[in-house]
Amino acid sequence: MSEMNIAVFAADYSLSENAKALAERLNLPLALSDQESFDYLLVLTPDYLALQKTNDPSSPLYIDFLHGKINYRAKRASIKNETLARAMGLKGKIHPRIIDATGGLAADSFMLASLGFEVTLVERSPIIYVLLEDGMRRAKEDPHTASIVSRIKLVHADALLWLQELAKEDRPDIIYLDPMFPQRKKSALPQKKMLILHDVVGEDADASRLLNTALACAIKRVVVKRPRLAEILALSPVPSFALLGSSSRFDVYLL
Ligand SMILES: C[S@@+](CC[C@H](N)C(=O)[O-])C[C@H]1O[C@@H](n2cnc3c(N)ncnc32)[C@H](O)[C@@H]1O
Repeated sequence: MSEMNIAVFAADYSLSENAKALAERLNLPLALSDQESFDYLLVLTPDYLALQKTNDPSSPLYIDFLHGKINYRAKRASIKNETLARAMGLKGKIHPRIIDATGGLAADSFMLASLGFEVTLVERSPIIYVLLEDGMRRAKEDPHTASIVSRIKLVHADALLWLQELAKEDRPDIIYLDPMFPQRKKSALPQKKMLILHDVVGEDADASRLLNTALACAIKRVVVKRPRLAEILALSPVPSFALLGSSSRFDVYLL
């Protein structure tokens, strides 16, 4: 988990009470005239909730299913052209129970939901979780995205524990993992959103334990997204096969 110093801030005076309630819910301080003393601000605006670097407010991170990359990808997605969908072995008419156990900004879950699949998304960071709730709220109000996000169920939990506590009859067919990986200095810099995500959630040092938990929980398969050339997440077991995407690799563990 990260050591960032984060406070909630109301961008508009009329939102002060909502910002106060959010700060209490997240157990974070409320920034007033002392904004500069925090690394990040969780800014409540009339339109959305955003996480922004205090010294670089130019690119706030908020979840937008209606525009931008997430929407563009989902509009063009098909089982054939999405390596993740193929790695999951998805077929049009069969609807497996899918858990995205490392939800993040929900780009992958939104793509799967736009293909018609139901996904339970689990996210453990309370800050990313409230950004997801906010993105979902706006998407539910739009006729183009309402039916897509109705197929995503959000869960705020650490999947390491949550998966272990699932009742036998709730075990999913497929578990998908996309843990954070260390940033390499030589690689192309991740886009700003990923940098903010990295600052706030840190590295998922327990990802190999999560893989073992997922392997014990899923019925049919576990799919792990990795950088194209990265080592496998855990030495054993080895994946059954891997599919290469443009910048990622999907390691598939058949059960
Ligand atoms: C690289 S991001 C996932 C990005 C996501 N696939 C997307 O399409 O936006 C990894 C996320 O997984 C979350 N995460 C890591 N381990 C987790 C766990 N054990 N339980 C729940 N969330 C976890 C992190 O907090 C982070 O938000």
